[in-house]
Amino acid sequence: MNNDVVRRGRLTGERSGEMMHFLSSMGADRHLADADLLVDIAHVMMLQKQQIVDPGTAASLLSALLRLYDDGIPESAFGDKFEDIHAGIESFLIESIGEETGGRLHCGRSRNDEVAACLRIRLREDILRQLSIICRLRDVLLTLAESHQDAIMPGLTHLQHAQPTTLAHHLLSYEQAFSRDFERLAQAFSRVNQSPLGAAAFASTGFPISREYTASLLGFDGVIGNTMDAVASRDFALEVLADMAILMLTVSRLCEELILWSSAFVRFISLEDAFCSTSSIMPQKKNPDSAEIMRAKAGSVLGSFMASAVIVKALPMSYNRDLQELTPSLFRGVQDTKHSTGLLADMLASATFDTTRMREEAGRGNATATDLADMLVRRFGLPFRTAHNIVGRAAQKGELSILNVDAAAIEITGTSLSSRGLTTSDISGSLDIEKSLQTKRAAGGPAQVSIVAALEGRKKQLACDRELLDRWKEQIASALAGLIRDARRMVP
Ligand code: ARG
Repeated sequence: MNNDVVRRGRLTGERSGEMMHFLSSMGADRHLADADLLVDIAHVMMLQKQQIVDPGTAASLLSALLRLYDDGIPESAFGDKFEDIHAGIESFLIESIGEETGGRLHCGRSRNDEVAACLRIRLREDILRQLSIICRLRDVLLTLAESHQDAIMPGLTHLQHAQPTTLAHHLLSYEQAFSRDFERLAQAFSRVNQSPLGAAAFASTGFPISREYTASLLGFDGVIGNTMDAVASRDFALEVLADMAILMLTVSRLCEELILWSSAFVRFISLEDAFCSTSSIMPQKKNPDSAEIMRAKAGSVLGSFMASAVIVKALPMSYNRDLQELTPSLFRGVQDTKHSTGLLADMLASATFDTTRMREEAGRGNATATDLADMLVRRFGLPFRTAHNIVGRAAQKGELSILNVDAAAIEITGTSLSSRGLTTSDISGSLDIEKSLQTKRAAGGPAQVSIVAALEGRKKQLACDRELLDRWKEQIASALAGLIRDARRMVP
């Protein structure tokens, strides 16, 4: 029997199981079901307040909806004979309390504004959860940086030894990148948290609804003005997916380093066994599979963004069913990002760093040659480019000894630097790794004073971000608690 309340009037004929399944968004709608109940409850409260339904009808509808809220939505409402969860819940209500009452729920609205509201309610929760995870990841990086301020390591460009730095400096670079991901997602939050309700199909409705009232009941920050835009746009979802894809690209870079660092060539890090796998044939293997999957997930999340962007491309106003196809990609992207970043924080927190190996590598490849050139500038007043040429030529000859440096100076400038007072201890002093590091005192650099200052600033920023997050969580939680409390009061 066709008990889909939406289809039964206009359409006849049986659909094949395959057709029902194809048309239904029920799979992804599992993410929206809880939000849909909240939207239904707020809508009924508004209908009564505006005297569109009488108090008795509102009480019966609310009582049935609150039962679903308390006991859970029955599995039958999720059947894919329904086009979506909105039709599933409405059909269930009509079946359980009768059409005379249940049939009044959908007055003055459409599934178009309903689904957009559900998406925004669910997505704002996901954003807040993701922001918390980013904070935890930043916290882990800051804690590790704090305890590795003296851990000297090679800094690389082009994956070649470049200049010495510290593990603290390296980790702080990721923390700073992740703090921008926090900022981006936090900005998206305020655009996501706007109410499309009252737009109905797209043209609003002739019933005297209050869009502001449903928005405030549901903890939205405001109402989306144009009702056509309210149902037709998904840029709020694209924006979140783009932010998540950018976040995951940084995750992928960090994972690439963890994979590299745990290789037998490098041996800078040892990941806890729980985050590794072994081989089914080579019994000695310990592989960084979790980091590899996180690296790959960056591709999946970017794919979710790409799929969603291409789905909305060229859609005419206003609602088109294509938009339904965006929902699974949205939640896949959200889940992948959540799992990857949460597990990455755990993996980093439990890893051990081999600081002896790092120190060994820090001195390789003439990593302090720049400091030697800088010394020649300071000591002999040479232009930097000349000093750079001299040290480059000396490096070409082999080690940066006084013999090679002086021979290079004569070749390039025609003058001996030894004769002008250059000594072996000038050379060895400027090549000293520890000394070199402590000269890098510019803001944001790797010298201990700069790291100490950076740590203090970054911790303050994190505390500030966490405060903002707590305020938003509290705002949403108290709005929704108020909604349910007020709804209960309306049921005798
Ligand atoms: N399941 C649909 C979606 O996800 C809900 C809106 C259906 N509206 C319609 N006019 N067919 O977009």
